[in-house]
Amino acid sequence: MNMFPLDAFSHPVRLQFLQGEEWSARGIRVAIKREDERDALLGGNKWCKLAGHLALAREQGFSRLLSVGGIWSNHLHALAHAGQRFGFETVGVVRGTPDAMTAMLREAAAAGMQLEFVSREHYRSRQQAEWPAHLAKRFGPCLYIPEGGAGAPSALGLAMLAREIAAQISGSVILATPVGSGTTLAGLRAELPSRFTVWGFQAFADAGLPARLRQVLVAADPSSWRLFSTPAMRAHRELAVELADFLRSFEMAEGIPLDPVYTVRMLSRLRSLIADGTVPDGSTVIALHTGGLQGRRGHDLPQMLVQAA
Ligand SMILES: Cc1ncc(COP(=O)(O)O)c(C=O)c1O
Repeated sequence: MNMFPLDAFSHPVRLQFLQGEEWSARGIRVAIKREDERDALLGGNKWCKLAGHLALAREQGFSRLLSVGGIWSNHLHALAHAGQRFGFETVGVVRGTPDAMTAMLREAAAAGMQLEFVSREHYRSRQQAEWPAHLAKRFGPCLYIPEGGAGAPSALGLAMLAREIAAQISGSVILATPVGSGTTLAGLRAELPSRFTVWGFQAFADAGLPARLRQVLVAADPSSWRLFSTPAMRAHRELAVELADFLRSFEMAEGIPLDPVYTVRMLSRLRSLIADGTVPDGSTVIALHTGGLQGRRGHDLPQMLVQAA
């Protein structure tokens, strides 16, 4: 197999230990795995999830990649840029209408992605098995990549990431990751050694998620992973005041930009879990920065609010 997208893993990205007192109570230490720094456009969990899909497309001779997402989809944005960089045509099927064009979609289009807008009702049918075939009929031969870069091929890049993290830190570790579809959590749990416990932080209210994850992770020891809710999970697009305040103070103190949907919720809840004693004394916690910083524009946040002193 041509390993071209996996070249990104030839140099490990850093672990950045947090300095604030709230992260170091009771002998606890917390580091951010700066996956956002792996690549300016494809960093975060996007590269990890897409790498296997890209390798598969190259292996099977597809020149066009097709996927689906919302108008602020980090995934479509990353796919458009991956296509441009590695020489694939890309098609993004977007839930919404052309008048809802966002900065993210404009950039995806500028990177060469053909955008096709569909209604919410039509979009819902993406779960049906025949959807990829239906799309292939409409757009010609293409590799269909499920929403968010999910699916079996995502395991390849997530396994690379798991290996990299395991090589960077010894002893027993809690690996914290934001959760949307749960693809990242499941891929990392499957590949990390048993000295890691994986804690997922659910970004959206999704009642079916725990059961779906249990199904995917049927082979994993049930005590080796946990799923936590996060503040203001229900508000998909809004950045609740408490989260905006947390984001500002975190960036000022630590100098690490957060995305307004996933990492902000994970870290805000993780801080509470340290304060209430859920994180055991003396724990080492690695929190995965899954990127998504382009989405800050949807919340009128500049790329970085405050530079650390
Ligand atoms: C920035 C960011 N973080 C986290 C996630 C959640 O990842 P997953 O869907 O694999 O749970 C996403 C969605 O793909 C995302 O865009």
